[in-house]
Amino acid sequence: MKETTDNNCNYCFRSLNYLGSKLRLLNFIDDQIKLVTPKSAGVCDLFAGSGCVSYKLSSHYPIVSCDVQYYSKVICNALLQRPHISKAFVDELMTRIRLKQESLIFRAFSELIRIENDAIEKCDLEVLASIIEFGSLEVFLKEQHESPISDAQKNAALKLTSFGIPGCESFISRHYGGVYFSYKQSVQIDIILSTIKECIADSEKDIFLAALLSTASDIVDTVGKHFAQPIKTRDAKGKIKSLVYNKAVKDKTLDAVDLFENWLNKYLFLPRSNFKHKIIQCDYIDCLKNLSDDIRTIYADPPYTRDHYSRFYHVLETIALGDEPEISNVKYNGSVRISNGIYRNDRHQSVFCIKSKALAAFETMFRIASTTHKTLLLSYSPYDETKNVHPRVVTMKQLVSLAKKYFPNVEIVSAGNFSHNKLNSSEHFLESSNEAELLIVCKGA
Ligand SMILES: C[S@@+](CC[C@H](N)C(=O)[O-])C[C@H]1O[C@@H](n2cnc3c(N)ncnc32)[C@H](O)[C@@H]1O
Repeated sequence: MKETTDNNCNYCFRSLNYLGSKLRLLNFIDDQIKLVTPKSAGVCDLFAGSGCVSYKLSSHYPIVSCDVQYYSKVICNALLQRPHISKAFVDELMTRIRLKQESLIFRAFSELIRIENDAIEKCDLEVLASIIEFGSLEVFLKEQHESPISDAQKNAALKLTSFGIPGCESFISRHYGGVYFSYKQSVQIDIILSTIKECIADSEKDIFLAALLSTASDIVDTVGKHFAQPIKTRDAKGKIKSLVYNKAVKDKTLDAVDLFENWLNKYLFLPRSNFKHKIIQCDYIDCLKNLSDDIRTIYADPPYTRDHYSRFYHVLETIALGDEPEISNVKYNGSVRISNGIYRNDRHQSVFCIKSKALAAFETMFRIASTTHKTLLLSYSPYDETKNVHPRVVTMKQLVSLAKKYFPNVEIVSAGNFSHNKLNSSEHFLESSNEAELLIVCKGA
């Protein structure tokens, strides 16, 4: 399920907000699933992403939520599983986090925090742009690019070492501070993350991590609210865009700790059903092969463009995993540099995003779903040529003809007019139309 302007891939991890804004589409998916799913059966959300669809369906079916990314598992767990924590515990945790705001990591970054705050206050575009372009401490230490904040970066690096702060406790600040978040916010994220690791049992961690992922999605200082690339600070003539300041005021001044507390309370008091849900992180093939007989329906919303989704969410994956990944390099004008988006090296490359592999991947999905006697609802967003979006890797026509190879009943349902299109030339028309989200409904005999 995508936003209409999917060049932003902006169906993001502010998933509870998203649930509200996308209610009509979620209701449509829900209605279509109700039409094909027996009362006591379960449903698999095969590419669960932000977990919105899983959550919507979870009130009347047991759900299997699958995604290859760990952050999706964290969010789905938080949305679907009942937490065993009290409000009093949350309050205690928040006090602990707030007390840490005077801690050593804050002191290490204090000069950079002050410089950034001053630049926002004085609308100093030059400094604000430098912070986005060259602000990552790790990138600075490797590439040594001199800028108005270099001295403060050198001081921060010295303090981190002399204070003996372990690398895992400052990973977000060192890599993404200034670039995706303000320095202060990135330190707040590191502090929240290390407090979660310190104080919460593994079985209860996901609700806290999900609240932190939602917070990070709220505050990220990029145009599409994702992590594919930092703001482009300059126009074609090299002039700094006013967007740099406007976004900084809007995003970088948000308090990450206050937002985290709000999110935590939202997740804590979310209505949840009593069904037994299963949330797994794996490849779609492994999930399909292991689905139990009581799962009768599969809702599949794979990627359709060559933009690898993991680009948009790599920082969320790192926050969820709490690890210290290697950062990927790129060749630029003959020299090797750290990737502009500061991506994890092990970023997942989905077969659905690779033109030469996508059709075979869909065929495997149709084949396993049909041989295991499931009904498959495959989501498809037609390609709108009037918008600045990437064309689909596979066409509607290709998908429908593949589906017909494995399923005797294939029909297309549109979220726009809710009409059922019999299989004829409509699939060609739908390919490049402004049609809303489509579902290819594949049923057995
Ligand atoms: C279009 S998004 C799904 C959006 C989701 N329906 C929602 O509402 O947020 C596609 C998802 O497929 C996942 N994905 C990509 N390749 C995968 C694979 N081979 N196996 C499992 N999941 C995969 C991505 O991580 C991404 O979350």
